[in-house]
Parts: sequence; C-alpha cells; structure tokens
Amino acid sequence: MTGAAMGIGLAITERLLADGVVVVGVDRNGPALAGLASRLASSFVPVPGDVAEPGTHTAAADAAEAVGVLSGWVNNAGIDTLAYAHQATPEHIESGLRVLLIGPMLGCCEAVRRMLGTGGGAIVNVASIEGIASFPRHYVYGAAKAGLLSATKSVAVDYALAGIRANAVLPGCIETPMTYSTLPPELTREEGLAREAKLAPMGRVGQPEEIADIVAFLLSEKSSYITGAEVVVDGGATARCYGYPPPELPPRVATRA
Ligand code: NAI
Repeated sequence: MTGAAMGIGLAITERLLADGVVVVGVDRNGPALAGLASRLASSFVPVPGDVAEPGTHTAAADAAEAVGVLSGWVNNAGIDTLAYAHQATPEHIESGLRVLLIGPMLGCCEAVRRMLGTGGGAIVNVASIEGIASFPRHYVYGAAKAGLLSATKSVAVDYALAGIRANAVLPGCIETPMTYSTLPPELTREEGLAREAKLAPMGRVGQPEEIADIVAFLLSEKSSYITGAEVVVDGGATARCYGYPPPELPPRVATRA
C-alpha cells in the first residue's frame, strides 16, 4: 500500500486493517509512517521509502511475504505537479513521471513477479480522471496518469491466465492534504472546497473513504471477474459535457449538495 501516511492511502489502509488484512504501508514520509505504526494495529507494517526507487518495492514485498502470502498490491502514492507545457522543464517532466508513472510501474513489476510464484493476486492502481480528460496546468500529471491506465491494462491482459487481476481507480476531486495544498491561498479552506465542489454534478468533493471502499472491493474476491477496468469515482464530473450550471429541479426533489 503506497502513499499510506495520509489522504487516500491512509483511508485505504484503515479500511483494509478494519477488514482484517495485514497491510504493509510504504511512504517517503518516514516520521508520519512511524506515528501511524504506533497508532494503528500491529497488523500495520511500515516500510519507509520512495516509490521511484525499485528497492522500496522489493523491501515492501519482502515485508509482506515475511508475514503471509502477498495477495494484493495498491500503487497510490502521488504528488501534484503543476505546469503548462510551455513552462515545463526537462527536470519538471522527469521528476513528475518518476513518482506518478515510473513508481507505480515498478510496483506492478514487483507485484507481478511475486504473485506469479503464489498463484495470483490483485493489483489496484490509483490513477485519476486526469488520465482520461485534461485539467489546466497538469501537463505532466495527466500524461503520467494516462500512462498508468495503459500499464494497468497491459498487466491485466498479460497475466489474466496467471490469476493476477489489475484494475485502475480514477478519483475526481477528493478531500485530502493534496487537495488542500492546491486551493487558492486567497480563499479559506471552506471557500476553496466549495469552489471545487461545483466541478462535479453531485455538488460536492469526494471523501477518501469513498475511494477506499472501491479499492477494497477491487482487491477482494467479490470483484473476481473484473480486470483491466477503469473505475471512475468522481461525482459525475467526467460524465458532464461542458460546465453548465446545475439544473433547476422540481421543488420536491431533495438535493444533497
Ligand atoms: P496526498 O498528498 O494527500 O498523500 C499522498 C501520500 O503519498 C503522502 O503520504 C506522501 O508522503 C506519499 N508520497 C508522495 N510521493 C511519494 C513517493 N515518491 N514515495 C513514497 N510516498 C510518496 O495525496 P492524495 O490526495 O491522497 O492522493 C493519492 C493518490 O490519488 C495520488 O496518486 C493522486 O494522484 C491520486 N488522486 C488524488 C486526487 C485528489 O483529489 N486528492 C484526485 C485524483 C487522483
């Protein structure tokens, strides 16, 4: 479970622990990971490291196999990286792709190698709706997420007969520390989130737990016939053509926005 220290990764970790799963949590934020280990159940195993380094994934897989059979793998760690194409330097492109694409690809390679030896497993890659639709100033981020969707399908197709499933989850705007860091500084957090909420027809941002539920499902046997799928969890954002104002609903229709 990469990027376990906060945000979506923390919600997935807590959900899996509640389901009785032993979770190996990887994060480059070592102190946050250590703090979590002392707070969470003993079935949480912290492995500090950078997902762009192959050795991090090897250490995580070793830690998992030391306590049981490695049956699931989640590539979730990510960063927000902002630049228009005319601004992007080679360093900006490379550093973004290292975390957002090379990291999860290395994770898939390690997971597949281990699962081939044990008869299968499930891989879930946390991509983004930006892998299928563009958002301003996300030149590198969107390309990395699109690449991750392709890598996910490649693993799904190549290893289906080996009992390995690979799926992608595509969140829309979710309330996490990453999202907080992107809100305009001139707005309060509440004002910023209210602005983001308008991006989805459901009129709100998503919660990390709403991604965790889908990831837990895709890791479980309940999704045994699902592989190569792209599961969009975005409050309807990518279903909408153009940014029209919300419809005028009849008075008796309840709205939850
Ligand atoms: P976050 O910033 O709240 O948490 C990310 C975690 O990943 C942090 O604990 C961080 O230390 C860790 N991390 C970052 N780079 C790392 C590296 N190189 N090696 C190891 N750990 C690293 O982010 P959030 O929002 O929880 O995002 C999780 C995933 O969901 C990311 O892949 C992100 O791109 C994706 N996503 C998030 C959306 C959102 O609205 N928050 C929307 C769509 C996708």
